[in-house]
Amino acid sequence: MSLKNCYNFDDFRKLAKKKLPAPIFHYIDGGADDEVTMNRNTDSFNDCDLVPNILNSVGEPDLKTEVFGTKMDMPIFLSPTAMQSLYHPDGDKASARAAEKFGTIYSMSTMASFSIEEIANLSSGPKIFQLYIHKDQSITDDLIDRCKRANFNGMCITVDTIVAGNRERDHRTGFTTPPKFTLDSLMSFAMRPQWVFNYFTNKKFELANLKDKVEKGTNIAQSVMGYINEQYDPAMNWKDAEYCIKKWDGPIALKGVMSVEDAKKAIDIGCTAIMISNHGGRQLDGSRSPFDQVKAIRDAVGDKLEVILDGGVRRGTHVLKALAAGATACSFGKAFLFSLGAGGQQGIERLLQNMHDEIRRNMILMGCKSIKDLDESKIIFRK
Ligand code: LAC
Repeated sequence: MSLKNCYNFDDFRKLAKKKLPAPIFHYIDGGADDEVTMNRNTDSFNDCDLVPNILNSVGEPDLKTEVFGTKMDMPIFLSPTAMQSLYHPDGDKASARAAEKFGTIYSMSTMASFSIEEIANLSSGPKIFQLYIHKDQSITDDLIDRCKRANFNGMCITVDTIVAGNRERDHRTGFTTPPKFTLDSLMSFAMRPQWVFNYFTNKKFELANLKDKVEKGTNIAQSVMGYINEQYDPAMNWKDAEYCIKKWDGPIALKGVMSVEDAKKAIDIGCTAIMISNHGGRQLDGSRSPFDQVKAIRDAVGDKLEVILDGGVRRGTHVLKALAAGATACSFGKAFLFSLGAGGQQGIERLLQNMHDEIRRNMILMGCKSIKDLDESKIIFRK
């Protein structure tokens, strides 16, 4: 199996699984508790149907949209995800370059493998930064200041990870940042010698944005769940978010909004966008899927917010359904991490090309000339 045989999510996932040591593969692939929400995120797209219109002189459809004050050539972008150099040595560099090539957004995680400055120097494409509010406020402040200096286009504040979800796969594999080679995990690393070779011959693993402030995660191995519980504040509140929004003073989203009520509050504290997300099902298992909340949230916020659907997206038709239900754009994490694991920058480019082609083809089949045509009339929810 190779990249040229990767046509869909499962193909990229299988190829990534062959290349990555088990603890790393399962860190991407897994969710919280019984993974009910993780699976529901994708399944929910199947509870409605697209209704095409015919004979509409579509010709070449226009896939362009705008979020975070940034024009995009396609209505899907890369979600912020941590520690990308574990999936391919180029990590965030590969993601930022691939996104730029396809005219879409690269999102940098607070826990990225390359720093704000490194990626800003390498890509002039659209970039947003995902902010974790730390217990130590000087860390949060420093991240916002650096993103301003580096001219990031936007920011999203993660609000659903104030305590770590129960990721049982990580308990079982002993996944840590940086990876620890224990007696238990040794076998799974030994079975992926190419990965081990890359790991030891490339830039030393680090949480690049934090390494000067936090020893753990970079020089001292810790489980990701332990890291989250130590660094992030479970007492975080609306005032804390508002402080960051004011300090950033640019396009900004709360990431992890699920309720209509919270979406409305996001407008009040000055957000320009929200990301409807349950963190890929990695946090609160049993919570509703982002897709199931899009319509109600859009109905409530009108045009006061950009609404980004984050979670479960695997197909172009998922994006079409999200937009028809009211989303401005979508983002995806797992799908693109598997493509990164499967083939680095080339892998992500192949995935983005597939997604572009699927969205374009299906817009033509739907009779839609532009993203605007994907409205409520194009979707029926099954009872
Ligand atoms: C995770 C955090 C780090 O989901 O975003 O693992």
